[in-house]
Amino acid sequence: MAAIPSIKLNTGAFIPAIGLGATPSEFTPESMADSERWFLTAFKAGYRHFDTGYIYGTEPYLSAALRASGVPREEVFVTTKLPWHHPKYVARSFDESLRKLGLDYVDLYLLHWPQTVEYPNGYDTPTSPSEMFLDVKTVDTPTLNDTWAELEALHTSGRARAIGVSNFSIKTLEQLFKTAKIVPAVNQVEMHPYLAQTELLEYCRGKGIVVTAYSPSGRWQQVRSDPTIVGLAAKYSATQTQIILAWHLARGVVAIPKSADIERQKENTALPTLSAEDVVRVTGLDRNERIVSKFGPDGKLFGWTAEQYGW
Ligand SMILES: NC(=O)c1ccc[n+]([C@@H]2O[C@H](COP(=O)([O-])OP(=O)(O)OC[C@H]3O[C@@H](n4cnc5c(N)ncnc54)[C@H](OP(=O)(O)O)[C@@H]3O)[C@@H](O)[C@H]2O)c1
Repeated sequence: MAAIPSIKLNTGAFIPAIGLGATPSEFTPESMADSERWFLTAFKAGYRHFDTGYIYGTEPYLSAALRASGVPREEVFVTTKLPWHHPKYVARSFDESLRKLGLDYVDLYLLHWPQTVEYPNGYDTPTSPSEMFLDVKTVDTPTLNDTWAELEALHTSGRARAIGVSNFSIKTLEQLFKTAKIVPAVNQVEMHPYLAQTELLEYCRGKGIVVTAYSPSGRWQQVRSDPTIVGLAAKYSATQTQIILAWHLARGVVAIPKSADIERQKENTALPTLSAEDVVRVTGLDRNERIVSKFGPDGKLFGWTAEQYGW
């Protein structure tokens, strides 16, 4: 098992290639509060990179776990994200995230989605998950270019040490580049063996953008249970999840598996090194299949069509 590497960002800073996904197990206040327990086990298991977001509701619990862990702030890489209904309120939202995190800077601040959403309560997030994610209403302004300029200002202030995007395609990145003064450090997208996104990965690499894979194991069982993955797990005396995470590392991709279980947290950091041939075999499983961020029967995902996303 090789040590987890770090990858250099275009800012010169390093991001640990495995981070802990910090979405709550369920979008309920109880589950959000429970995350403090498993964030602390992750610190103990050696995690030094945590991927949260305003919308996850776990920022205060990450703050509490960080303080309880005794790990010095400068040894931890913290990512959080601007939610899609805050492009009108970037400075306020960022300040609120910092306050909840108990930090005076974040290592990476991401524009969570390219589209802007408007909820009936404006700045406030609906309390029910169904209102948060279903029938979301998108608006044309602020545009992703307007919002990126606000993130650039946060970077210049030093409080967002790196800035990046999430759920961006080549199309939306090209749109961003029409006005961007700063190249995103990271593009965080759904990526796993059934959605290898090789073209996007190569495009990002060419621009100096590090790709982070979200839902890196495919979240549920179907990717883990693929016969090729099962076969490789036997070959390397590893688990199926370890094979998938090792594949991300071999491609130079950061992966942020979420686990609320200390044994699985440890498992996800003890990864084999795949041969180049086996990396190609896993990439060959690609079906361009979105498992987590998928379109509804109306052809939309959170208010946008595949054409709007450029997916
Ligand atoms: N930017 C975005 O729009 C976006 C969207 C989705 C996700 N994300 C980020 O990506 C992170 C991870 O995504 P995800 O939770 O969708 O997918 P994931 O990390 O691929 O899968 C998480 C699921 O796999 C289970 N699991 C973890 N390790 C395992 C192992 N070794 N063996 C068996 N099962 C295992 C977890 O259960 P247990 O907890 O019980 O171990 C959990 O149910 C999120 O937390 C978030 O930070 C970002």
